[in-house]
Amino acid sequence: MPYTRRNFLSGSLQSLFSLAALLAIPAERLSGAESALREAWQTRSGRLDIGSIQAKTLLDPNIIHLNTGTLGACLKHVFDLTQESWRHLEKNPAIVGFHEFTKLTDEKRRRAAVFLSADPDEVAFTRNTTEGMNLVAQAVGLKPGDEVLTTNHEHPGGYVGWKFVCEAVGAKWVQVDMNRPFQEPEEIVDSFRQKITARTRVISVAHVLFTTGLRMPVQQLSRLAHEHGLFMAVDGAQVPGMLHVNVKKIGCDSYASSSHKWLMAPKGSGLLYLRKGVQKQVRPLMLAGGMGSYTAYTGTRNFPALLGHGAAIEWQQVLGPAKIEKRVLALSNYCYEKLTAFKSIRMLRPRRKDFDSGMLAFALSDRKNRDFAKALQKRGIIVKVVPMLNAIRISTHIYNSEKDIDHLIRAMHSEKLS
Ligand SMILES: Cc1ncc(COP(=O)(O)O)c(C=O)c1O
Repeated sequence: MPYTRRNFLSGSLQSLFSLAALLAIPAERLSGAESALREAWQTRSGRLDIGSIQAKTLLDPNIIHLNTGTLGACLKHVFDLTQESWRHLEKNPAIVGFHEFTKLTDEKRRRAAVFLSADPDEVAFTRNTTEGMNLVAQAVGLKPGDEVLTTNHEHPGGYVGWKFVCEAVGAKWVQVDMNRPFQEPEEIVDSFRQKITARTRVISVAHVLFTTGLRMPVQQLSRLAHEHGLFMAVDGAQVPGMLHVNVKKIGCDSYASSSHKWLMAPKGSGLLYLRKGVQKQVRPLMLAGGMGSYTAYTGTRNFPALLGHGAAIEWQQVLGPAKIEKRVLALSNYCYEKLTAFKSIRMLRPRRKDFDSGMLAFALSDRKNRDFAKALQKRGIIVKVVPMLNAIRISTHIYNSEKDIDHLIRAMHSEKLS
């Protein structure tokens, strides 16, 4: 059956049943996964409350997790399925690993491609964004004198590969200053346009900045890149599972992401999209004779985690990426509104539909972010510190609620923030 967004529920259930049969385990051991998928489908069609999702994760109910941007919560059924698969693998590792699991994980890879709106041969499983970005940077073929255009708000995972290769071959690394108070996506695109020279070869940016949560105009930047014959690399660490991603619509050449954040997959799982048209240019990835999640060339993988990764993607696909995005943005905007009542803090990105994401950040004028984050942690509220901006970052995912935000605001008052 071809995997489309529309038949994902039946496809996901079938995939689950074949997994249960293959693992030769009683159906009830995977019934958590089955009911999670069916419930997700009901939630998508509006018959269930999205607010009940926290209970489907393994999060400690005594904490308020507002830092999905660092690591997300894992779904219970994904965790169980991963464990069951692992138990099965260890009974007869050589046979199970090299026969059954290879096929299964490749099927999951094809379904991951649907999730990103890519072709099956354009998506590979990686361990994380850092790996994906490094692979692209190492393989894109930079030469002495070439320039890579990026921003000064990239995460090390997004830029270390470029920095290393630039230093190694004598290429230049050029940054657009994202500390400027941009009000319009076009202003950002113009800043990139002004820095393009005859030597520019690559534009590489995060889809959502890890510092301020600003959503970058990646579609317009991809267009700009291609108008100038440049390679467009996107660091999507923060995006799949937070916003609805369609790599074809973005029009980028590569898109690297981490699934252990917003996709709620096992830790150490990521995706790399590489557009067919550039696959020859980034040759090392193609030595495997395809973009398979496992081949003899890429070595043995953590099969159970790959199956769990697939299950997390299926659950979100069934729930509906558009529905998830809507909820995530609504919560983030709710938080933004509440925070603007504090005079002593400064919001670090404007609120604007095309800049909004599931993360926002604010700068503290009268104390150190680390001390403040520690004080919140003592109250059970987990946030991210952004040292370079003396800022606090808040992530709002579907397992959070307005109550969590209200709790944060009360804690801020208790901490004497005015
Ligand atoms: C924008 C961005 N890129 C890359 C990374 C690195 O992610 P990972 O450690 O999963 O490779 C992060 C992590 O927070 C990030 O926010």
